[in-house]
Amino acid sequence: MERRQLLKTSLAFLGTTALVSFVYPASRFLVPPTSSAKDAPLTIDKDEIPPGTAKEIIFNETPLVVINRKGSGFIALSRICTHLGCLVGYDKFNDKLVCPCHAGDFDLEGKVLSGPATKPLPRYPLKITADQITIG
Ligand code: FES
Repeated sequence: MERRQLLKTSLAFLGTTALVSFVYPASRFLVPPTSSAKDAPLTIDKDEIPPGTAKEIIFNETPLVVINRKGSGFIALSRICTHLGCLVGYDKFNDKLVCPCHAGDFDLEGKVLSGPATKPLPRYPLKITADQITIG
């Protein structure tokens, strides 16, 4: 192989690699992934969440927290802060949800108590039976 031909082949290979390394991530970003489990209900045992505690779960690729509120029962809320998307956590000592990024606080209904967020945390429907909680 001539030197010139080798150089052309190498440049073509590098160009193709650079193009693929740009186009593939861009296409993955623009086209949402499909999942056969999407919108499938998720069931957890009530015993896993005693009163005054919470359980963090992933439901259809969304982080949620299921809280067993003392005297008010179960609620499922998105953990994605409505300010800039950090994950909120359950503060069992103060009965609220706290965002670690900008000190946003939400009550156990998902409503904003303080901080920069202006919208409540989205709530997910629950079906509650004698032993189980079904989300979705
Ligand atoms: S991201 Fe939660 S308060 Fe800013």
